Amino acid sequence: MSKLLDPSTESHIGITEGEGITMTWENLWVTVSDGKKTKPILEGLTGYAQPGRLLAIMGPSGCGKSTLLDALSGRLSPNIKHKGKILINGHKQELAYGISGYVTQDDALLSTLTAQETLYYSAQLQFSDSMPISEKKERADVTLREMGLQNAINTRVGGWGSKGLSGGQKRRLSICIEILTHPRLLFLDEPTSGLDSAASYYVMRRIANLVQKDGIQRTIVASIHQPSSEIFELFHHLCLLSSGKTVYFGPAFDANQFFASNGFPCPTLHNPSDHYLRIINKDFEQDAEEGFGSGITAEEAINILVKSYSLSQIKNKVNTEVANINQSDSGAVEKKRVHAAFLTQCLVLIRRSALNYFRDLSNYWLRLAVFIAIALSLGSIYYDIGFGAGSIQARGSLLTFFISLLSFMTLVGGFAPMLEEIKVFERERLNGHYGVTAFLTGNTFSAVPYMLIVTMVPGVISYYLCGLHKGLFHNGAEHLIYFVSVLFAIVMWVESLMLVVGSVSPNYVIGMFIAGGVQGIMILVCGFYRLPNDIPKPLWKYPLYYLSFQKYALQGYFKNEFEGLTFVIGHNMNISGREILRETWHVEMGHSKWLDLGILFVMIVVYRMLFLAITKSKEKLKPVFAAITARC
Ligand SMILES: Nc1ncnc2c1ncn2[C@@H]1O[C@H](COP(=O)(O)OP(=O)(O)OP(=O)(O)O)[C@@H](O)[C@H]1O
Ligand SMILES: [Mg+2]
Repeated sequence: MSKLLDPSTESHIGITEGEGITMTWENLWVTVSDGKKTKPILEGLTGYAQPGRLLAIMGPSGCGKSTLLDALSGRLSPNIKHKGKILINGHKQELAYGISGYVTQDDALLSTLTAQETLYYSAQLQFSDSMPISEKKERADVTLREMGLQNAINTRVGGWGSKGLSGGQKRRLSICIEILTHPRLLFLDEPTSGLDSAASYYVMRRIANLVQKDGIQRTIVASIHQPSSEIFELFHHLCLLSSGKTVYFGPAFDANQFFASNGFPCPTLHNPSDHYLRIINKDFEQDAEEGFGSGITAEEAINILVKSYSLSQIKNKVNTEVANINQSDSGAVEKKRVHAAFLTQCLVLIRRSALNYFRDLSNYWLRLAVFIAIALSLGSIYYDIGFGAGSIQARGSLLTFFISLLSFMTLVGGFAPMLEEIKVFERERLNGHYGVTAFLTGNTFSAVPYMLIVTMVPGVISYYLCGLHKGLFHNGAEHLIYFVSVLFAIVMWVESLMLVVGSVSPNYVIGMFIAGGVQGIMILVCGFYRLPNDIPKPLWKYPLYYLSFQKYALQGYFKNEFEGLTFVIGHNMNISGREILRETWHVEMGHSKWLDLGILFVMIVVYRMLFLAITKSKEKLKPVFAAITARC
């Protein structure tokens, strides 16, 4: 027997050994509120999904298929409430984070990786360390072949601005990632969208085969648009929805009889699913002039079917089945999922992110080019700045401009790639591939070399061209190192701010407004545009001035620049750098520039911890919110 097919390998490939997973939901209501009105999305659904069975959810667009999958997998958005019992093996328990795999309707993939790399990295994150790397790669290759991606393994995923995998290929790659470890419970939202009929059939057959693979029974719930008759034959159970109501739930092959007995028989040689969907679609009623014979509108047809189903024997059987399943205690599902060790995950994530940054020309490389252009411009405008009276103000303007521009350009260039990373992380975290600490470690360490490059090169150029702190040659490279260190800290702080903002607002435009607004205020109160002693005390000085990252960057820079220099301000009139710091720039002289730099790095750590806390509390608070909303 091939090792790949050996059931004994299951213990280190994903979810731990145990019984199959049965899900039941009873009288499930899902509602969304816009503050004034509450609108039901799902209305009193009852059903079940069993091991070894493929349950298909079908219905017209907007009928609530994705919402049902989200409700079952515990991923409803916070503004959506649900009522009713959702039980797993007869127990009330949270499902997300690792018990199940969920292929969502939108693909969240890193655009710079090839299909094969995407799956290799995923295999290294998901399989336990006890599995040899060659076997992980083999599993990934087999899965890619099974999904028909063998000709696209070296094609990059692609995204905005760079064409890569087609929409259907991306869909199949997303499926590959989740079926790689053969989870015992799998949700798929429109796995065949973007695929032609033949590809849809092969993909669905592969998914259907998973329900009984390696001697283990799996539970699969998939929403699907317009399946062909061959695909329809693969379904064990069918849940047919229309406007959030159950039109039919039961064995897929009994649906025909149900429709026929209500006056809507499927014409011979017609695809049954096409027939059902046409009858229950009321979105295009004005176009369906012919109706369904005898002048019945879609609205009326749906009402007949919904009513008939609610009074039918099939519905009674479903209720009995749900009650039986809930009574037979097959044990709570083991929450623990076997995957790579924490250190392995961190290393894999560092490698993956570093490769992503290296290939993504629009991220660090573009920033490097822009920063060099800015450094050259500054270098020519402030060339050899000198020690005259005018150079005092010029140094202040030059340093403040550099800090401000670097902050904003980092946000402009880095926010879109950061959101892409956060989206991929959210998908992988919800599916239990790794946790937030591993992500943060990977994100931080993979970016450090790039941040060093994008700050060191323009930093050195501007430093020398402008002739900043001529003491350089007497004091070694200390001043230059400090200058570059602060630039590095600024870029790292903006990235940390983007992480925090991205975790609360994964929407590009809103995120840009929030992060840009925060930066704008911090720059405004940094002590240059209004000198520290002149900043209005309530709010602006206490606390904003002291919370401003740019305040510490600027004070450190001023000390680095002016201390030890003497300026000529008139005939035989000199002024020391320390005096300028005190009198002109109102710099706090009680501590050294190194403390300012230290505070910058402490702030970076605080922002990153904030991201960790927000992401973790989102997880922790979810059951609390669910309990509160269930009572409301
Ligand atoms: N957060 C929300 N706020 C308001 N309405 C929502 C929200 N989420 C879903 N809806 C509404 O609920 C209904 C069901 O949405 P859902 O995404 O579940 O449909 P669907 O069956 O998956 O559609 P499709 O086949 O197009 O993916 C839709 O009418 C949608 O507009
Ligand atoms: Mg949907």
